[in-house]
Amino acid sequence: MPFNTEIRFTLNGVPRSATVGADLSALEMLREVVGLTGTKYGCGEGECGACTIIVDGRSVNSCLLFALDCDGRELTTIEGLAGDPRAQALQQAFVAHGAVQCGFCTPGMVVQATNLLATHPQPDDAAAKRAIEGNLCRCTGYQKIVDAIVDAGQKVAAGSAP
Ligand code: FES
Ligand code: FES
Repeated sequence: MPFNTEIRFTLNGVPRSATVGADLSALEMLREVVGLTGTKYGCGEGECGACTIIVDGRSVNSCLLFALDCDGRELTTIEGLAGDPRAQALQQAFVAHGAVQCGFCTPGMVVQATNLLATHPQPDDAAAKRAIEGNLCRCTGYQKIVDAIVDAGQKVAAGSAP
C-alpha cells in the first residue's frame, strides 16, 4: 500500500475524502487533517474514551482506529451531533446536573451517551454506567454524568427535550 492513500467516507452526513498515511489514526485525521477538534486526544491508547466517535452506528475509540479503515464508512463526531435532539438534551442535562467541570471528557461522554439513547431510549442508572464504562472523567465522580444521561433519556422520551 502506498504511503499516502486517498480514502472516501461520510463525515457528519457529508461525503468527503482525505489523503492519509498508513500509521495515521482516525483521531489524528479528524483533528489534524480535517480540522475538527471537538474529538479530544486523551491517552491515545484506548483507555480514556475522550476520542469517542460513532462509526457505522457504533461508538469507537478513534485513537485505536486507523484512518485507512475509515474508507467507505460513516463517521459521526461531536460536531455532527449539534442538531441531534438527543445530544441537545444531553448537553442541557449535563449542565443542569453539574456533569461538566473541566469539560475535557464531555465530548466523548456526549457522543457515547447519544449513541446509547439512539439504541436504548430510556436507560436506567445501570445502563448509563455500562455505556460510559470506557470513558474516564477525573473531575465529576461519574454519578452526575449518569444522572444527566438518565434525565436526558426521560426528557427525550417524554417529548420535553429541545
Ligand atoms: S484518546 Fe482514545 S481512548 Fe484515550
Ligand atoms: S469534567 Fe473533567 S475530565 Fe470529566
